[in-house]
Amino acid sequence: MRAFWTIFSSLLAIIGASPVRPKAPSQHVAPSVQQRAVPAGFASTNGTQFTIDGQTQYLVGTNVYWLAFQMNDADIDLVLDQLATSGIKIVRIWGFNDVTTIPTDPATVWFQYLSSSGSVINTGTNGLQRLDYVVAGAEKRGLKLVIPFVNNWQDYGGVPAYTAAFGSDGSTWFKHAPAQAQYQAYIRAVVARYAASPAVFAWELANEPRCMVCSTDDIFNWATETSALVKSLDPHHMVTLGDEGMGLTGGAWLPYWLTYGTDYWRNLQIETIDFGTFHMYPTNYGIPSSQGHCAIERPWQELAVQTEGIAGDAFWQAGTVLSTGKTHDDTFTLYHGTEEWSCLVTDHVAAIRNATRV
Ligand SMILES: *[C@@H]1O[C@H](CO)[C@@H](O)[C@H](O)[C@H]1NC(C)=O
Ligand SMILES: *[C@@H]1O[C@H](CO)[C@@H](O)[C@H](O)[C@H]1NC(C)=O
Repeated sequence: MRAFWTIFSSLLAIIGASPVRPKAPSQHVAPSVQQRAVPAGFASTNGTQFTIDGQTQYLVGTNVYWLAFQMNDADIDLVLDQLATSGIKIVRIWGFNDVTTIPTDPATVWFQYLSSSGSVINTGTNGLQRLDYVVAGAEKRGLKLVIPFVNNWQDYGGVPAYTAAFGSDGSTWFKHAPAQAQYQAYIRAVVARYAASPAVFAWELANEPRCMVCSTDDIFNWATETSALVKSLDPHHMVTLGDEGMGLTGGAWLPYWLTYGTDYWRNLQIETIDFGTFHMYPTNYGIPSSQGHCAIERPWQELAVQTEGIAGDAFWQAGTVLSTGKTHDDTFTLYHGTEEWSCLVTDHVAAIRNATRV
């Protein structure tokens, strides 16, 4: 069994655990990832749920993609404090920030410069040292991070930045040797920094990988190779693919499409993938937005908590006021201290603490 984990947006739902098809007998022979001893304080799966700090429980999370892009330590501390005191345990942040031109302003954070004539991984004060600060801050507060290595989208570089530098495109990136070599170099650099940290909940191969009009073999093979690489570097942290949950069987609507190149259940059989995710945006499902996030999304949260096989959820996205002003409002943002926050965070956390789940 593998846990699943979803994000809701305005519940970009990463929620979690769902029963998985039985594995082929041969796969039972090899010691599974889950049977390896997990160091104290590390997150792991337990059947279709997650265990953190010795407790198997439904987990509430959020997305704060911009957290490691803040130059001001106090801003990072403020956000982590607000999340921790709200009962949120899981924080998904961008572990990538790819550029094709090195910013001239030393206060602009970037993690990797991509170029066919020599890429640079920025370990400086406006580079991975910002991620170091977030990881250390999460450790102090008992928070756990989900860290993707690349974006499918152009925000913060993503696959489009690799393709601009190395000449692949969105459908060839997954098997384009120069792009994959640099992507793997980046993975090695990031994983080496935090392999020993209990603050890493899971490594995510990509945010919403899609390979349009590709064989589902392309993402399957890429995910098999990349997740095995991550496990070889860091056998004790969980690894997840980061896809949206497309490519199910049994229907004709969007979650059942193979058009995005993902075969959900097949990918979940990969031995070095620990759990599945899906992303849902209930506010985009034709419900009048005048109803507000709370009315639209609270029932989905309740359903998730009650559903066997869903191990947690993480809404997209948390917001607050930093020293630089109000954080990004993409219409899905729940701001700390608002009524929406009370409904979708405070009440959700309280209801889970009340519930007894077996
Ligand atoms: C794993 O979950 C089972 C219930 O499903 C529970 O009895 C057991 O204590 C859990 N293990 C840990 C390490 O939490
Ligand atoms: C939690 O349980 C208490 C006591 O049964 C109840 O008063 C409260 O309404 C519950 N809260 C939620 C959010 O379910």
